Amino acid sequence: MIKKYAFEGGDIAADIMERYGYDGELAEIYATTRDFEVHKWHHYIPLYDRYLARYRGTGVRFLEIGVAKGGSLQMWRRFLGDKAVLYGIDIRKSCADFDGAYGQVRIGSQDDPEFLARVVDEMGGVDVVLDDGSHQMSHIETSLRALYPRLSEGGTYIIEDLHAAYWKGFEGGFDAPKNFFNSVREIIDDMHRHYHPKGLRRPEMEGAISGLHVHDSLVVIEKGVTQAPVHSRVG
Ligand SMILES: C[S@@+](CC[C@H](N)C(=O)[O-])C[C@H]1O[C@@H](n2cnc3c(N)ncnc32)[C@H](O)[C@@H]1O
Repeated sequence: MIKKYAFEGGDIAADIMERYGYDGELAEIYATTRDFEVHKWHHYIPLYDRYLARYRGTGVRFLEIGVAKGGSLQMWRRFLGDKAVLYGIDIRKSCADFDGAYGQVRIGSQDDPEFLARVVDEMGGVDVVLDDGSHQMSHIETSLRALYPRLSEGGTYIIEDLHAAYWKGFEGGFDAPKNFFNSVREIIDDMHRHYHPKGLRRPEMEGAISGLHVHDSLVVIEKGVTQAPVHSRVG
């Protein structure tokens, strides 16, 4: 299904910049990844920049679920800089070959909360999670439930390739109960907990959701302690 959307030749960076009116550096960084292969949808590049540029040059603790051919870790290293604590996890044992190249790689399943906890402990905490793993709906849920409580205050949780939410092979489907966009609705309900009597639907997230952004196939959750709303009248 996705074949028809493949970019056929030409200048990848120029396509991203022209198509999305993007003038940041990540298009060029992505397009010039050479040592290992990375596969990204073009519209993700400006979105990554929008949500992750503030971490550049910092000691951000960044966890990518899904290492595949190793190129994304190289891209993140070039984008985020030398100080970043960069970890990737993958279920495929051969991904261990990329350990130490541009970041650390640990082998295990995103469906295993204990494994995830061990990795985050080793990282000394986590500020950004990018879920580009199996794209199975239940795995996305398990990872989110396990990792969100460990995400630092002000941290960023990104889940990509959510077109899979509409595909049966990924436990999705337009009306499928596990379609991740049903979870997005729950997160929205928790953001609005002060206005309904139902309580938190996702207690493990503790209502610490300062922002939720839905883009084509990509969801960004910003973690932050939220205050009860206050209003006043003036004039
Ligand atoms: C879409 S690829 C990652 C692509 C890579 N991030 C990039 O941008 O080029 C998905 C990866 O997730 C891995 N994966 C599949 N199931 C997994 C699981 N249960 N836990 C962790 N990784 C898994 C696959 O082995 C594969 O390498």
